[in-house]
Amino acid sequence: MKTIFSGIQPSGTITLGNYIGALKQFVELQHEYNCYFCIVDQHAITVPQDRLVLRKNIKSLAALYVAVGIDPSKATLFIQSEVPAHAQAGWMMQCISYIGELERMTQFKDKSAGKEAVSASLLTYPPLMAADILLYRTDLVPVGEDQKQHLELTRDLAQRFNKKYNEIFTIPEVRIPKVGARVMSLQEPTKKMSKSDPNQKAFITLLDDPKQIEKKIKSSVTDSDGIVKFDLENKPGISNLLSIYSTLSNKPISEIEEMYASKGYGDFKGDLAQVVINELAPIQEKYHQLIDSKELDDILDEGAERANKVASKMLKKMENAMGLGRKR
Ligand code: AQP
Repeated sequence: MKTIFSGIQPSGTITLGNYIGALKQFVELQHEYNCYFCIVDQHAITVPQDRLVLRKNIKSLAALYVAVGIDPSKATLFIQSEVPAHAQAGWMMQCISYIGELERMTQFKDKSAGKEAVSASLLTYPPLMAADILLYRTDLVPVGEDQKQHLELTRDLAQRFNKKYNEIFTIPEVRIPKVGARVMSLQEPTKKMSKSDPNQKAFITLLDDPKQIEKKIKSSVTDSDGIVKFDLENKPGISNLLSIYSTLSNKPISEIEEMYASKGYGDFKGDLAQVVINELAPIQEKYHQLIDSKELDDILDEGAERANKVASKMLKKMENAMGLGRKR
């Protein structure tokens, strides 16, 4: 059976973008692959986090993984910082990375732009991400479009390590969904939807209530020509809403365009809000059952144990290949 690894940062409550670009794929893939799904809290601290909020977000993300349909008896669900091999392997991958290639990462450029104090980890987080993936002999990484560049770097680093030290890493492939790979901000539809966007109206979280969802979709930025048509260049707002509608309703975009051919944006937005509310209702119900349960802690304990076993073996191989410590 082939292996999948994917991670999400607990840097806020996950958005419809994370759900469509990543989580929704995970649910389908868990039946065909040996899956590792990780809450990457060490990535989240590359930007300042409030200690208590981070703790809350970690548990909340774990509950959401299960609530959307990840089955912990099939997939291994765990927290990155509870598997020390990640940070150890991350350091080794940093040692084979070049500053130039890390500076070329668009996410580094975006997150550091205009900031006076930028943490070193914002630059060096892609080698940690490479370690996350490579520790599990991952064949496939399902991610949204925004992570494609980091995945290319992971492949480069794995090939570099294999060539220089020893052929121990599997070279992972990337899997990006056809529709919804890049869900855009509701307020600036040329920018991706992000859970850490300071503008709360720009994103829908998986825990937003029906009123908030309706309000955010109704106030989303569109255009003034009133035609529900997919046109990324000239109508980015409507195109984004159409993509969301299409992935959640399983209807092709062309069919949705026809449905609203003689209707205005008001009807379209109202119906889309209902589609989103209906999708999230069962997820939220399950979330509330889980969030303070012992079941959730047991799932995470078991996940950490399983992940530790696999990751520590690969770490040993990496150390042997590089000549660290004593041969055992
Ligand atoms: N807008 C998006 N559309 C489609 N997929 C998306 N993903 C993120 N945003 C979108 C996918 O979600 C997974 C988890 O992402 P992450 O939390 O590890 O990091 P991120 O890509 O930086 O996500 P955010 O929401 O933008 O977080 P912040 O605001 O903290 O930086 C990945 O598979 C990603 O592709």
